[in-house]
Amino acid sequence: MEFREVIKRRRTVRDFQNKEVAMAIIDYAIENGFMAPTYNHLRDWDFIIVSSLESKLKLIESENLDKSIDIKELESLFKNEDSIMKEMYLDAIPKQKKMIIEAPSIVIVVFKTKTKIGEAKRIYDLNCLASVWACIENFLLSLAEYNVYGVTFIPQNIETIKEKLGIPDELEIASIIPIGYKADDAKILKQKPINIPERKHYEKW
Ligand SMILES: Cc1cc2nc3c(=O)[nH]c(=O)nc-3n(C[C@H](O)[C@H](O)[C@H](O)COP(=O)(O)O)c2cc1C
Repeated sequence: MEFREVIKRRRTVRDFQNKEVAMAIIDYAIENGFMAPTYNHLRDWDFIIVSSLESKLKLIESENLDKSIDIKELESLFKNEDSIMKEMYLDAIPKQKKMIIEAPSIVIVVFKTKTKIGEAKRIYDLNCLASVWACIENFLLSLAEYNVYGVTFIPQNIETIKEKLGIPDELEIASIIPIGYKADDAKILKQKPINIPERKHYEKW
């Protein structure tokens, strides 16, 4: 595929078909992930591929996603926000549990930290996080090449998930990525149009 076509095709999808993703596609995306730039040349990243209901339920319990969501409350919470952002949150928040249950596979991306994230004082201390996200983008683009989509869910209760899934203590979770084929009625939200010339600066701001 043309490079620009793959970039355009990658979009966040939260509604999946009940259709397995071949392990060869996941392997291909992980291999391409490992070609991303990395701050210390070490690519200290690991991937956990989850497809059992038992493991998915561990993620849902850890993140307290079982609570029901009051749409009216959500609407009032975002009432003064940018309309494109509000539309995204109103679609995304109620789907957090469903997308974990319904995605045929979930890929958990784990990374080794340089400085504990909570102790970071300078941007430089977050190089490990920046590097793993370069890897995640390669991973998502590689899936898009095969019409497989994902959504980068960021867990809040990382310590609980680490304990439930036996992830070594010194590692962190960058993202939990439900992946799969797009449901026929999947909602793809409008991307906010950006006036790129206004965002470019030459020589100085
Ligand atoms: C760092 C980061 C964190 C995100 N966290 C979540 C999340 O927790 N749950 C979710 O449903 N989507 C999450 N997303 C997906 C964004 O909502 C999505 O990328 C954004 O709305 C732009 O849409 P697009 O990816 O289709 O261009 C996250 C994306 C990024 C890059």
